[in-house]
Amino acid sequence: MEAVITLLPGDGIGPEVTAAARKVLETVAIRSGHTLTFHEALIGGAAIDATGDPLPAATLAHCGNSDAVFLGAVGGPKWSDPNAPVRPEQGLLKLRSELGVFANLRPVRVYKQLADASPLKADRLQGVDLLVVRELTGGIYFGDKTRDADSASDLCVYHTYEIERVVRFAAGLARDRKRRLCSVDKANVLETSRLWRDVTNRVLSEEFADVELETLLVDAAAMHLLSRPSSFDVMVTENMFGDILTDEASMLAGSMGMLPSASLGETACGLYEPIHGSAPDIAGKGMANPCGAIASAALLLRHSLGLEADASDIEAAIAAAIAAGARTADIATSGDQCLSTTAMTDAIISRLG
Ligand code: IPM
Ligand code: MG
Repeated sequence: MEAVITLLPGDGIGPEVTAAARKVLETVAIRSGHTLTFHEALIGGAAIDATGDPLPAATLAHCGNSDAVFLGAVGGPKWSDPNAPVRPEQGLLKLRSELGVFANLRPVRVYKQLADASPLKADRLQGVDLLVVRELTGGIYFGDKTRDADSASDLCVYHTYEIERVVRFAAGLARDRKRRLCSVDKANVLETSRLWRDVTNRVLSEEFADVELETLLVDAAAMHLLSRPSSFDVMVTENMFGDILTDEASMLAGSMGMLPSASLGETACGLYEPIHGSAPDIAGKGMANPCGAIASAALLLRHSLGLEADASDIEAAIAAAIAAGARTADIATSGDQCLSTTAMTDAIISRLG
């Protein structure tokens, strides 16, 4: 297999976790006889500093000529001035939009050895295996914004086709899992949510009679994620609810640093990123958890390159490293020795077989 991968390290711990993911991909490529070509390009604050633009045209061109795109993280205090003309996050949102990756898959896998790292009681975590599908290119993230002296507005718009395609995507994934889909909205308040619910009910009844549909309001969903996390299979929701609920869900796994994501659209070229942010407080210290990034690399092999065996080998290597007690600071409990980002990466690589 030959493939071109664009790496967008970005800001904060982004470069550190991107290096970890690249090392794992290179190891797998050598082992399995693939030729992976990597191109690094600028995004976010790093791109603003170098070019004034959080998503330079050269970066977008690289991504457009790739089989997959991997992103570390964007943002940080240096670029957070509310009056700044451009922000790092705009680069990421534009990239998602330009790549057309409307379905953001955020699997939440819980390792029983990390139960102590989660604030939840261990018995609640038993059997948790959920997949959040977050709509990624619509809603309040992309609506018109206004600001004057004493008011501001963010418009939330959803079109029927945007809801249909992401709900179909999520229901299709549920069909290959436990055949349960939970759609999350705020239909008691928001018109966009009432459309979301109507469309979801129709798509499920017309096309997915074999998938059981549950509907929850987002406030209740936030609670049920903690009180009965193992009852969920696939959850589908709009852009902002998905952003919020997946940070919450990451606590089931023990840390934001554990969760990967895959953003997919109509083409095979997906965008892969850990769900965590740039973590400026620990940037450059070599202590970031690379697991979310490495698991994102596994998703890249699976969804964009069709290399299922290599993808599951990486996932098994992460599980084996965790089972053997390898811990970065964010998932360590008292008495654990903390590994650096590179030592954790090597602990995973050494279990790749
Ligand atoms: C995420 C992040 C981004 C988002 C930020 C960095 C714009 O929080 O990927 O979850 O809100 O989508
Ligand atoms: Mg987020």
